Amino acid sequence: MVSPKIAPSMLSSDFANLAAEANRMIDLGANWLHMDIMDGHFVPNLTIGAPVIESLRKHTNAYLDCHLMVTNPMDYVAQMAKAGASGFTFHVEVAQDNWQQLVEKIKSTGMRPGVALKPGTPVEQVYPLVEGTTPVEMVLVMTVEPGFGGQKFMPDMMDKVRALRQKYPTLDIQVDGGLGPSTIDTAAAAGANCIVAGSSVFGAPEPGDVISLLRTSVEK
Ligand code: DX5
Ligand code: ZN
Repeated sequence: MVSPKIAPSMLSSDFANLAAEANRMIDLGANWLHMDIMDGHFVPNLTIGAPVIESLRKHTNAYLDCHLMVTNPMDYVAQMAKAGASGFTFHVEVAQDNWQQLVEKIKSTGMRPGVALKPGTPVEQVYPLVEGTTPVEMVLVMTVEPGFGGQKFMPDMMDKVRALRQKYPTLDIQVDGGLGPSTIDTAAAAGANCIVAGSSVFGAPEPGDVISLLRTSVEK
């Protein structure tokens, strides 16, 4: 059984209190902190970059699960590694030609490579990256269009999760977008074990209860 990794998306946190929010999530039982890096080009929004990761790293030893919604992921590898990122997940839509080189570069810095796919991207596109000689170690199935928190979960994406889980029993499969108490059972039953949740965690009166509920559902 693949172990659950619950990753609050810091995009929904109070950025002005990022270190405190990050440590609060870890204290409440989060495994990872999901960090959404956007370039205003691959997605129509801008968030944080390496300088913020570097600042946060001074306040926490937590696993920083970085989701790069950027057009040129290669340009970010060195700076993200230096800043203290733990995982580096890039989008398959922008890595068609040089993914092997990209994965090797990520691994050489000590970060853990992952690949993400947008809702419109067929799951088959990531198979070569999971099966390559230098494989990615996580696949992120987007369950909303990337760019913004607080959107509605797309249950149709569960076909991709099921297909991945059937082919790769021990792979870390992450879902991101619209996850919370009302959608987690669908995602967990399909085979997802890494759960990103932003608005459902930060918007809850007791975020720790939501984190526990997400974990329990994956463990079922
Ligand atoms: C969206 C981001 C997500 C987002 C999820 O592009 O990748 O990580 O923060 O937010 P919720 O959980 O609110 O859908
Ligand atoms: Zn994300």
